[in-house]
Amino acid sequence: MRDPIGAAIVGAGAISTVHAESLAKLNGVHLKLIVDIDPVRAAQAAEKYHCEAASDFQTLLNRQDIQVVHLCTPHHLHAGMAIDLLRSGKHVLTEKPLAHHLSAAEALLREASQSSAQLGITFQNRYNASSRAIREMIDKGTLGRLLGLKGIVTWSREPSYYTSSPWRGSWATEGGGVLINQAIHTLDLLQWFGGEVASIEGSTSTDALGDTIEVEDTAHAHIRFSNGARGLFYATNAYVSNSPVELELVFEQGVLRQRNDCLHLIQHGSETLLCEPPATLDEQGLITGKSYWGISHQLLIEDFYDHVRSGTRFPVHAGEGIKTMRLIAGLYASSQAQAARMSSRPT
Ligand SMILES: NC(=O)c1ccc[n+]([C@@H]2O[C@H](COP(=O)([O-])OP(=O)(O)OC[C@H]3O[C@@H](n4cnc5c(N)ncnc54)[C@H](O)[C@@H]3O)[C@@H](O)[C@H]2O)c1
Repeated sequence: MRDPIGAAIVGAGAISTVHAESLAKLNGVHLKLIVDIDPVRAAQAAEKYHCEAASDFQTLLNRQDIQVVHLCTPHHLHAGMAIDLLRSGKHVLTEKPLAHHLSAAEALLREASQSSAQLGITFQNRYNASSRAIREMIDKGTLGRLLGLKGIVTWSREPSYYTSSPWRGSWATEGGGVLINQAIHTLDLLQWFGGEVASIEGSTSTDALGDTIEVEDTAHAHIRFSNGARGLFYATNAYVSNSPVELELVFEQGVLRQRNDCLHLIQHGSETLLCEPPATLDEQGLITGKSYWGISHQLLIEDFYDHVRSGTRFPVHAGEGIKTMRLIAGLYASSQAQAARMSSRPT
């Protein structure tokens, strides 16, 4: 039997538990180390998941018994840490986004494309059963040509969400607001389904959280795809609850609606349920991870390790992660241009 793959998690905050619990369910993987700059957090997490703790990221680079590292740190640390890890020969599964800024993401993409180690990004919603079904129908042309699609994210983030982790809400450390943190998954699905983006126009604003954050809490966009399809996108953190993300795709021969990982087909005046969320409850009947994060972290992590073992390229690689970074940068640029146009309008 082969030795188990040694794994580490860097950053023992909110999302790290989803990674640790997913790893605990995987055969042939041994979580050996949890690193957090806060030694108390690192020690508490290590005790819970029966592994070692460390507070210095650098110690991880020389650990020969660790082959895969999960990056669950604030956005501004992703690119630098991932580059150091790739250079020390370790495979990296980073939480989204690739980086806090497009230039840092481009630097990571260059490093990843030269490395023999893998870099994966956690766009777990691509692993939802309904997302897979949509992708398959697009590939097979089941409903004819895709004419247009829209994605709507209306979530709630209270000031305490930002004050509890001060890297959030700042340009320097989060690199953006609702776009780069919450709605990035929906932007990723829109481009995964819609294909190459020709242009993105829209605007961003801070409608409700201006006393707490410097980044945007709301954004909307109009997207033109190279194949002629058009997309609409709206996202906000200023709602009163975390509503299910809604996606709609209009094809020549029908409409697909995805909500909460349920997929409906509307065709010839009637609606058919094509797919429901799979049973993703653990042995106690508990959902692994918050439902609005998506239920597919476990599937993505499992697939990452399968690709590490087989030496084949993980499909959600840096070249995929860069696409949302470019969309987000394009939307900020469009928003600034629109604001400049509006300010030159006569009053
Ligand atoms: N895929 C998803 O659905 C999803 C959901 C939530 C969060 N995330 C992502 O996960 C990442 C972490 O988010 P979070 O909400 O868990 O943040 P968090 O603030 O709860 O946790 C971040 C942790 O990183 C630690 N840290 C900071 N600097 C460090 C350093 N130099 N070395 C080691 N540890 C350090 C902090 O002490 C903290 O414990 C972000 O990239 C976020 O976008 C993804």
